[in-house]
Amino acid sequence: MTTPIRVAVTGAGGQIGYALLFRLASGAVFGPDRPVALQLLEITPALPSLNGTIMELDDCAFPLLAGVKASDKPEVAFEGADWVILVGGLPRKDGMSRADLIRANGPIFTGQGKAINDAAGPDVRILTVANPCNTNALIARSHAPKVPADRWFAMTRLDQNRAASQLAQKAGVPVASVKKMTIWGNHSDTQYPDYKNAEIGGSPAPNVIGDDAWFADTFIPTVAKRGGAVIKARGASSAASAANAALDSVRSLFVPTPAGDWFSAGVVSDGSYGIPEGLIYSFPLVSKGESRWSVVQGLPIDDDARKRLDASAAELASERDAVKDLLGPAA
Ligand code: NAD
Ligand code: LMR
Repeated sequence: MTTPIRVAVTGAGGQIGYALLFRLASGAVFGPDRPVALQLLEITPALPSLNGTIMELDDCAFPLLAGVKASDKPEVAFEGADWVILVGGLPRKDGMSRADLIRANGPIFTGQGKAINDAAGPDVRILTVANPCNTNALIARSHAPKVPADRWFAMTRLDQNRAASQLAQKAGVPVASVKKMTIWGNHSDTQYPDYKNAEIGGSPAPNVIGDDAWFADTFIPTVAKRGGAVIKARGASSAASAANAALDSVRSLFVPTPAGDWFSAGVVSDGSYGIPEGLIYSFPLVSKGESRWSVVQGLPIDDDARKRLDASAAELASERDAVKDLLGPAA
């Protein structure tokens, strides 16, 4: 039998966890030939209810599910992991910004970063979902000096999917016609969903939609503030769409990117597009498969886009300053 891919998920007993685990176990991410072993982390009081979810996983009889273990110790949950999906942490409530979660959630990522460093597998990849996800990823990475920079991701795929959906609805076309949807920057209101470099049916999105005011006045704020709108409507933060985006993020890294497209994720900036090195910033990416990725280079950035890219970088730099006391030796 092929060696199972070992996927650790933190906050596995929460809303997103419940929408994530069954699809991971079904083969939806790593394909029909790759068994998956799940290694779940929860805080101690949540372990009994997580046990109920594990019973349900058993009851699905997924042929590809090669094992499930649960723990309240990060070094146990991360042992030998090929992927670590960091979901555990508080979600925001109506009226809060994601950055308001920094002091509550940031400290979680010091210990979990160390445990990734000490216990995860040699090729581990880490996707941070818990908010504020770019800065939580920065904190975790700073405590994991053994783990190379290209292994760390923060989730902006939900923003990418939201942006593609808004463009498709406006153009009256299926969402699959939308390609090259970049989210630049932070998973926050300062993100820039780059409609100018996006394509609809192979043509530039602005030409297809032909309504410049709509992009600035409606599209950008709708995408950037969608998380808050979902919280207001649902009374809880997005969960199924967030889990879906996490799975999309991992799959887009795991398989080669189709020609004529790219995808978005927060990665450690190497200075591309003038973004300060070391910030975890969302860029357009392509993958060669097996999580070997690169930043798409040479996209045109006009003055308006430049201001937006820089504003999001400045926000990330100030979030980094706000958690200086939580940063470890690899900061
Ligand atoms: P939730 O409250 O339903 O679940 C979170 C789970 O994390 C809980 O079960 C909790 O017990 C667990 N947890 C808390 N501290 C932990 C720790 N130290 N170790 C392990 N587990 C821990 O919340 P949710 O709706 O699943 O959201 C989880 C996080 O994801 C939130 O921070 C939310 O803001 C974020 N989120 C991010 C995106 C994104 O696009 N990046 C989208 C949606 C939600
Ligand atoms: C989202 O974008 O839906 C999540 O980040 C949750 C939130 O707080 O907005």
